[in-house]
Amino acid sequence: MKKSTQLYEGKAKKVFLTDDSDLVIQEFKDDATAFNNKKKGTISEKGVVNNAISCKLFTMLEEHGIRTHLVEKLSDREMLCRHLDIIKVEVVARNIAAGSLVKRYGFAEGTVLEHPIIEFYLKDDELDDPLMNESHAVALGVATFEELSVLKERAEAINALLKQFFAERKLKLVDFKLEFGRHKGEILLGDEISPDTCRFWDLETNEKMDKDRFRFDLGGVEHAYGEVQRRVLELD
Ligand code: TMP
Repeated sequence: MKKSTQLYEGKAKKVFLTDDSDLVIQEFKDDATAFNNKKKGTISEKGVVNNAISCKLFTMLEEHGIRTHLVEKLSDREMLCRHLDIIKVEVVARNIAAGSLVKRYGFAEGTVLEHPIIEFYLKDDELDDPLMNESHAVALGVATFEELSVLKERAEAINALLKQFFAERKLKLVDFKLEFGRHKGEILLGDEISPDTCRFWDLETNEKMDKDRFRFDLGGVEHAYGEVQRRVLELD
């Protein structure tokens, strides 16, 4: 598969067209940003780690009937993917209160949520990805009510699978963000699932094992990413 024109460069990945119009290549970078680009840095080997973790998780989800954009892992930093028409909605699922849920609503960090919370954010950096409900998304023309209900159901199903997968690896899945896209009349899971897009806490110590270590200068960022990779891949 030959890489051709660069289609897009995001904060953590580049996307390239290929000689097959249905396929693109996602290349994972070591660049890290937080708070919508206000904080910038690099996390050594992050691209390699996030590609490996994402490929493993997408493969596991596919094995449980969740359709994703993954075709195959091409190299350390490259994932061959189906070319999606990305839906401009970031879907967040939460099992434990942390991050913006704590800030916005005053939950104590660590509160276990009896029912997972699913949230929609508008994927628009200029507007700082605002929280929105279904009516906003439909009024903005980013998705239909039917699509949003598929996104919510899909996020709940993925949450159940990921929660169990990570529990078996002694990690609590606190929360995570998903992106979806349209492909030949279907909705597929896209983007990545990695310590950049999830919060993981160690099951025994509650140590933070994700991008919060970078966001809040907690140190040991590379070690945490490497440890998540080890636990994700070791039980193969
Ligand atoms: P939040 O608590 O900051 O809203 O984040 C919820 C989850 O979504 C957390 O696991 C980190 C992830 N996330 C992203 O992947 N990209 C983003 O731009 C934001 C704001 C959060």
